[in-house]
Amino acid sequence: MKANRKAYIRSLGRFLPERRLTNKELERMVETTDEWIVSRTGIKERRILDPGLGNSYMALRAARECLERAEVSPTEIDAIIIATVTPDMFFPSTACLVQRDLGASKAWGFDLSAGCSGFVFALTTAAQFVESGRYSKVLVIGSDVMSSIIDYTDRNTCVLFGDAAGAALVEPCPEPDYGIIDFIQRCDGSGEPYLHMKAGGSRKPATIETVKNREHFVYQEGRQVFKVAVTEMASVTEAVLQRNGLTGDDITFLIPHQANLRIIKACADRVNIPMERVVINIDRFANTTAATIPLCLYDILVEDKKVKKGDYLVLSAFGAGYTWGSILIKWWE
Ligand code: UT7
Repeated sequence: MKANRKAYIRSLGRFLPERRLTNKELERMVETTDEWIVSRTGIKERRILDPGLGNSYMALRAARECLERAEVSPTEIDAIIIATVTPDMFFPSTACLVQRDLGASKAWGFDLSAGCSGFVFALTTAAQFVESGRYSKVLVIGSDVMSSIIDYTDRNTCVLFGDAAGAALVEPCPEPDYGIIDFIQRCDGSGEPYLHMKAGGSRKPATIETVKNREHFVYQEGRQVFKVAVTEMASVTEAVLQRNGLTGDDITFLIPHQANLRIIKACADRVNIPMERVVINIDRFANTTAATIPLCLYDILVEDKKVKKGDYLVLSAFGAGYTWGSILIKWWE
């Protein structure tokens, strides 16, 4: 066990449902237009999981690809952390279901609930387990079936979200100066009124009334959330750079949570990172909650192979809670 070791992302995987829901289709479902959706959010289409398939279906497939890429056997995994707000069921955790279906015979695991900041919170949690020397192989999965909690009669929310999963294998970095260098994470429960699900939890269990009142869906006051997201996402991003003696010029890629292209642009502008160095896939996948950041990492690392050893990446997220955070990574290889 080495006390000063850093954790790094060794491998990535993802799962995208095949079904595409386009803005044109949404035009036929609610009073909206492709023009409104694209200009206000940047979204063109989103993926939707077939009914009857739960979160673990996607998380398992992302995990398998991640391990296959690293040529790591599921039996080597120490722990599985799944960031999600849409588990298969309240209990057991989706992590338990994935552990079983993956055949990760020695792993323990749990679900982590932090809304759209879920992957960022889960990645730093995994990094702490690895840095402490306690564990060497932790699987972090951001997976959400947002279509299972979206009201497709509510134009305020139904255009925004999609389904997907992304997985990362976190291991000790071969050199201590590389990997997950630093992070800042925050939460503020005063955000509850503006982004939540009204019923289905212990405060207001499901009844015929709650179902009739459509209280089992995402409720969001978008304008309120927008204002805080712009300010706080930018401020943690700026803070993590500043305290490591870096500026936007040193960053190869900003990897922001994909909730709204306007929030992303405002954040990038504040930290002086030009849009060519900001990873965007909201147009293709919309807001997949805990999956947006691993999907972005997959785009630049697996698909485009644009990152090289020593590059600095900054991950930044904001979500329900409110929760928010940023992570600074010096890429290993
Ligand atoms: O990921 C978790 C954290 N979440 C976020 O970060 C989301 C933050 N919020 C947002 O991204 C934006 O607030 C939204 C995209 C949700 C909404 O954009 P906006 O520019 O803030 O619009 P708005 O809510 O202020 O609504 C403007 C108008 C309203 O009409 P009136 O009251 O001005 O007549 C809405 O009813 O746009 C209307 N509207 C729509 N019109 C066409 C709302 N949704 C739609 C729609 N199509 N889908």
